[in-house]
Order: sequence, then structure tokens, then C-alpha cells
Amino acid sequence: MRALQILALLASMAWLFACGKQQNSQTSGTNVQQQTNQQQASQQVSDPKLERGKAVYDETGCATCHIIAGIGGRTGPSLDGIGKKYDAEKLKEILLNPKTLNPNTVMPPFEGSEEDLDALVAYLLSLK
Ligand code: HEC
Repeated sequence: MRALQILALLASMAWLFACGKQQNSQTSGTNVQQQTNQQQASQQVSDPKLERGKAVYDETGCATCHIIAGIGGRTGPSLDGIGKKYDAEKLKEILLNPKTLNPNTVMPPFEGSEEDLDALVAYLLSLK
């Protein structure tokens, strides 16, 4: 009887130990994963607004005419360094009314929401 009790106790201890260990390795695994994700994110675009802006840029098809970091079309000028050339005000003006640059421009005015325009401008300003 006694021996059985001890066995049961040992078994449950072993079980608890195994569980605890597994949980530990799982949590430390997630931490490592989170860290790498964060590192990757900060290497690319860290701010959610900038990420939204980049998405707006892609969704609106700006890249059919503009090049950023070697990717895109050549109808319009490269947007590399555009954040040094204009401030937020001027960029908004250009996006909403591209004719301010050139009355015969082929660039279409931006027609998305105010929020998307804001994010897009933030993204363009980050291109230094
Ligand atoms: C159909 C082609 C086309 C599309 C699409 C287009 N653009 Fe343009 N963009 C141009 C051209 C061409 C110019 C240069 C102005 C001119 O001479 O017409 C220009 C100028 C600009 C400029 C000023 C660049 C400078 O150095 O002065 C910015 C900023 C810009 N575009 C951003 C955008 C963004 C952001 C989008 C997407 C929302 C976009 N463009 C979509 C053709 C395009």
C-alpha cells in the first residue's frame, strides 16, 4: 500500500516536472520568436502608420510610375529621398493636385481617405 502511494506521488511529481519544463521551453520559444519579429520590423518599417502608408502606396499603384529603392516604373521621377525634398504640406498638395507640379501631368490625384493620405505622406517623408 505504502509503496503504491509513493509510486503515485513520484509519478505525479514527474508529470508536474515535465509539464513545467515544457511550458518553460514553450514560453522561451515564443520570446525568441517575438524578439526576432521585432528586430525584423525595426529593420524595415517600425511605425504602424508608415506601414499603412507603404500599403497605400502599393495599393494605389504609385509604383507603376515611380521608383523607390530600384522598384517601380519610370514614367514619374524616382521617389528616393523625396522626404528631403518636400515637407508634409507640399506632399499633400502634390498628391491631391498633381497639376501644381505640371499642368499636363499624367499623375492622377489621390482619391483615398484623409487617413490614408496622412499615412502615405508619413511614408513618403520617411524616404530620406
Ligand atoms: C500615371 C503615372 C503616375 C502615377 C500613378 C503616380 N504618379 Fe506621381 N508623378 C508622376 C509624374 C509624371 C510626376 C512628375 C510631375 C510631372 O512632370 O508630371 C510625378 C510626381 C510625383 C511627385 C513629386 C516628385 C518630385 O520629385 O517632385 C510625388 C511626391 C509623387 N508623384 C508621388 C506619387 C504617389 C505617392 C503616387 C501614388 C498615390 C503617385 N505619385 C502616382 C506620375 C505618376
